[in-house]
Formats: sequence, structure tokens, C-alpha cells
Amino acid sequence: MRKVILAPSLLSADPLNIARDIEKIKGEYDWLHIDVMDGHFVPNLAYGPSLVSALKSRHDITSPIDVHLMVEPPENFIDLFLPLKVDYLTIQIESTPHAHRVLQCIRDGGAKCGLAINPGTPVEWVAPLLFSVDMILVMSVNPGFGGQEFIPQVLEKVEWLYRERTVNNLNFLIEMDGGLGLDNIQDVVRHGCDVVVAGNAVFGHEDPAQALKAMRNKIMEVFR
Ligand code: DX5
Ligand code: ZN
Repeated sequence: MRKVILAPSLLSADPLNIARDIEKIKGEYDWLHIDVMDGHFVPNLAYGPSLVSALKSRHDITSPIDVHLMVEPPENFIDLFLPLKVDYLTIQIESTPHAHRVLQCIRDGGAKCGLAINPGTPVEWVAPLLFSVDMILVMSVNPGFGGQEFIPQVLEKVEWLYRERTVNNLNFLIEMDGGLGLDNIQDVVRHGCDVVVAGNAVFGHEDPAQALKAMRNKIMEVFR
């Protein structure tokens, strides 16, 4: 059975009670996904290095921290996060003409590097970079906000990535982010997704731990 990672997105947590919300899902999540928005690459503002630093300083939070940069240009931001020892640092391919260089800098800085692609970006754009990444993040909504509707056409991208990874004997992870929940998680996993990001489906639920358990069960059914 393939390991599928569940990464709740803190964008949907209660901003006045983030620690409490993380405590609620203790033992049920694999990674924590942090969205960073600059009001320029995306029309919204969200979290920065101070939140990541606070999370990293908690000894009760030991799971990988997965930072998704929706900022332009990412070159100006990666040095804010690398000293914090984030585990994954992902940039958007549309945000820089120098994606290869930035990915390299992230790796040199000691983090795993990820590359995200928007729903309107052809997946083939990442082809020359597949050999230089630890993760490809397929956006299944247009980035900027939680709680949007899933765009099913992006599943073809996951299939393509899965095939390229097998044919070229590579080992990057395939992550998906946006509009994911109980309705589509099985489809997403069947198409080859390794990391499932979910904001609203987790923290918008009255019992976030229960929401994650239900997702885990749905995943188990796929491999049964
Ligand atoms: C959207 C963010 C997502 C967001 C997902 O721009 O990148 O991580 O938090 O939220 P949901 O799961 O509610 O679509
Ligand atoms: Zn995200």
C-alpha cells in the first residue's frame, strides 16, 4: 500500500486559536501545510515566517512543516524561511523565470524543494524540472483562498506526473491542494496523489480529528 500523507492547511484554522486547532487534530495528521500569500501573486494576504517560527519552537509539534509560497518573486522570500528549518518549501512555477535556480537554492539551504502549478498552467512546463524537485504541487483551485470548488480537470496532470515519474525512475512526491475532501479524495489518490492538502474540509468540520479519520478511511478503501 502506497503511503498517502494528509496535510491540513492552517489557512482554514481559527487565526485566534491556531495552537488549539492543531491540538484538536493531534495524532491524525502527517504534515502541517502553511500558505504564504503576498497580495501580489495572489489577491490575498496570509501567514509569514513568524508563524512558521512559532510552530517550529513547539516541542509538541514534530511533524514536517510544508510551506507553500504564493509570492512573487520567490527569490525575495526563501531566505526568510530556510533558516527556520522548514521541511518542504514550495514555489509557484508562474512566479519566477528562474524556477530552476530557486529550487536549487532551496535544496542548498537544507529544505526539500517543491514546485506548484496553477490550474491554468500546462503540466508539461515542469518537465525539465522533474529531475530537480522533491515534490510537485498540483493546484486544484486557483490559489488565494480556502473553501473553493475543486477543478476536476487537474487530475489528468497527476496521471501525467505519475507516468513521468515511473518512466524516468524518479521519486518526487505528487501533492494536491484545493477543494479536497471526502467527495473527491479517493479519485485524487487513485490518480496517483501522495500528499493531500485540505483546509476547509478539516477545520471547517465541527470535529476536525473526525474529518481526518474519515479521510484516512476513504484512502484505506482505495487500497483494499
Ligand atoms: C489555496 C491554498 C490552500 C488552501 C486550501 O490557495 O493554497 O492550501 O488552504 O483550502 P481548501 O482545502 O479549503 O480548498
Ligand atoms: Zn496551499
